[in-house]
Amino acid sequence: MKITLPEFSMAYEDQGHGQPLLFIHGFPLNRQMWQPQIETLYTSLRVLAPDLRGHGETQPTHAPYSMDMLADDCATFLDAIGVTQPVVVCGLSMGGYITLAFYRRHHARVAGLILAATRASADTPEGKANRDKSVEQVRELGSQPVVASMLPKMMAPSTYSTHPDLVTRVQKIMAVTSPEGMVGALLGLKERPDSTAMLGQIDVPTLILHGLDDQLIPVKEAEVIHAGIKNSHLHLLQDAGHLLNLEQPALFNQVVADFLETL
Ligand code: MLT
Repeated sequence: MKITLPEFSMAYEDQGHGQPLLFIHGFPLNRQMWQPQIETLYTSLRVLAPDLRGHGETQPTHAPYSMDMLADDCATFLDAIGVTQPVVVCGLSMGGYITLAFYRRHHARVAGLILAATRASADTPEGKANRDKSVEQVRELGSQPVVASMLPKMMAPSTYSTHPDLVTRVQKIMAVTSPEGMVGALLGLKERPDSTAMLGQIDVPTLILHGLDDQLIPVKEAEVIHAGIKNSHLHLLQDAGHLLNLEQPALFNQVVADFLETL
């Protein structure tokens, strides 16, 4: 489905009825990464999953895309499809940074948070320099080199031999990200603020999920979020890396469903 927003058209999934659950994808991915969640959870919830600007089937706009801008896009999307009740927001990695920005800017619209494979901290100076290198690479050579360098880190080392089909699927999802979209997101990621100080102000039910074999974001980042958010729940998943929702879909869905039942 596609909806026209003031600045661009956004592609999205909208399935099921009841409590809305908004899925926000990571970088450089799109809503297809939530397929195992959408096809299971829509039976008891209204599952929403947009493609962020410049990702998947949503057209790019001029760079940069700050996390605040992408969070506001999600709010504009909810308005456009007529969702006025508070939503549970589930973001993975960059989607988690956007989820924290959404909470900061649209607090009254949040019924709960699910933070997967993410961190509250900002980029380190080294991380920022790497973003600049990636931007240069994309401008010179297109999206492909970034896809090639990220793919071996997106999942647990074991997943590459146990689920080669999943590796191919993830590669295809990443490969459709437009160069403009990549540059926009990379520049926004680089400039995102440190959200650690706001963790103590979060007063909605919060679930934190992290793969024990995440090669991109260490488990200790999830522990920092857990320590910062009062009454939050932390689940560490075995045999799962950065894309834990795809690597352990049944377990991920079960933990999410159990959390949602408590709301
Ligand atoms: C993601 O998966 O969204 C990215 O790895 C996040 C990041 O690069 O910080």
